[in-house]
Parts: sequence; C-alpha cells; structure tokens
Amino acid sequence: MYTADPQYASNFVAGVDLAFMVILGISIFFLIALTIVMLVFIYKYRRDRHPEAIQNEGNNKLEVIWTAIPLVLVLVMFYFGWMGWKPMTNPPEEAMHVKAIARMWNFSFQYENGKITDTLYVPINEPVILDLVALDVLHSLYIPAFRVKEDMVPGQEKVMWFIPGTEGEFDLFCTEYCGLEHSYMFTGVKVMPRDEFDAWITDTTAAAPVVDTETSLADQGWEVLRRNGCNACHSVDGTKLIGPSYLGGWGTMRSVVTGREEREVVVDAEYVRRSIYEPNADVVEGFNKGLMLSYKDMCSEEEIVLIIEYLKALNE
Ligand code: CUA
Repeated sequence: MYTADPQYASNFVAGVDLAFMVILGISIFFLIALTIVMLVFIYKYRRDRHPEAIQNEGNNKLEVIWTAIPLVLVLVMFYFGWMGWKPMTNPPEEAMHVKAIARMWNFSFQYENGKITDTLYVPINEPVILDLVALDVLHSLYIPAFRVKEDMVPGQEKVMWFIPGTEGEFDLFCTEYCGLEHSYMFTGVKVMPRDEFDAWITDTTAAAPVVDTETSLADQGWEVLRRNGCNACHSVDGTKLIGPSYLGGWGTMRSVVTGREEREVVVDAEYVRRSIYEPNADVVEGFNKGLMLSYKDMCSEEEIVLIIEYLKALNE
C-alpha cells in the first residue's frame, strides 16, 4: 500500500523542492557574497587609494581553490537533482493506467474501462501511470502541484507517473507552445478517495448524454462542443478562427473543397457528421486542410445530434 506524505500533493514534491531549495540557497549565497566582495574591491582598489595598477602572474593555490569549490558545488546540485528526478523514471508495475491524449487544442483522458473525460480523475495514495499520446504535434503535460512535466511526442510511447498525496483539484496544462490556441489546453486533476473514485469510474451516466430532460438539447450540444475543446477553433459569433464559425452555418450552402474539386454542399446532418468524423473530406473554402483530426473516438452519434440542435438554435 502506498501512502504519499499528506503534506505533499504528490510523492515527487519533497525531492524536487529540496533540489530547488539547495540550488536557490547556493545561488542566493553567491549573489550576496559576490556583491559584498565587489563592493569591498571597489572601495579598496579605487584610484586615489591605489593609483598604480599591478600585474599578477598567476597563483596556483587560487587556481586549485576556484576549480575545486565550484566542482563540489555543481556535484552537490547534481546529486539533489538526480535524487529528485530518478524515481520519476521508475513507474511501479501495478499502477493504474490512464491514457492522456493531447491534440490541438485539448486534453482528454481515457480510462481502462473506456471512459473518457476532459479532466483527470485519480484516487489518492495510489500510483497512476499516464500513457502520453500526442495526436498531432508536440505537446507537454504539466501538473505543477505534483512537480511532474513530460513532453508528448507524436509517435513516441512515453509515460509519466505519480502518487497523489492530497485530495483536491490541481491545475494541469500544456507547456509546449503548440500553436495558436495553446493556452486553451488548460484543465485539471481531481484527486479523490478510493471509494469516491470507484463510484465515479463505474458511473457511466455522465459519459452517456441525451436523456437529460432538465437541460435543453441545444445546451447539451454546447456542452459537448465545450468538453471536446471545439471552441478553440470555431467561434460562436461569426469570427473567423482556425475553422468556420458555428454561427449561421446550419441549413446554408457552403463552398467546399473535396479532394481537388470545388463544390457546393448544404450544411445538413450528414455534412455536420462528416465534418466531425472526416474533417478533411470537405474543407470549407478559405480554410486550411489538415488542421483538424477526426473526432470519431471522442464524439458519439448521439452527441452529434445534440451539436446539430445547438447549431439550429444558434440560427434562431
Ligand atoms: Cu498543446 Cu501547447
């Protein structure tokens, strides 16, 4: 059984912070020490006290001292850095796996039972391994409170692991500039007790939309767009972003490029569905191909119906 120190948000905090404080301490010591020496020399060797400059021809003792001391200092810094970093490379065998998927411009997290969320949920005091998947370009997953950060490289299998030690919500964001809406890749980690986590992971009602009589279909459609990060590239007010705006789209004719051919299509259910599952099949004129990946695994047929309701409502 693992128990990360409850004083810390993760098992890596103590090691990383110690290395940081050691380096900061050494830096502050030298900042002060060198400033004092500099001031003393300015006073002691100023021109009216010391009018003749003299030439020193080397000093073996000094050479040894200013080689040995910095060597020891960098080795001390290296030691603490290494001790803080080494455990990060050794994920335990029995840890829970979560697939962390990054794309322009959102994160999603897929659990072993297939559940997908936009926020990372983890149980406290248990090791979690994130399998890092980048679908398009370089991203980097950073959880400052846990002191973990790892690049996500398309085509490379990389992992990150940690044991959360404190309940609560912590920031999680992309820290590799990955294009125009990089700053949209901002979400969170929610750490909760095991029983709460179990209740959450087995609860599939949150993942299955529709059958919600409280909220209108259009509002649920908006929620689907928000959750999938669509708004990073598509505006609601007609502003031209990376992709076409939602506004005034539904039911109108659009000039699209299909392969190399230009043609006119009507924005109907089939068109919306194809735009989400095969975004590069019909590219609206004036926009670039290849900027959107298929949302086949992210967005169900039922959710597309909700999105269409939202698009209709926007026209009213
Ligand atoms: Cu993804 Cu920045």
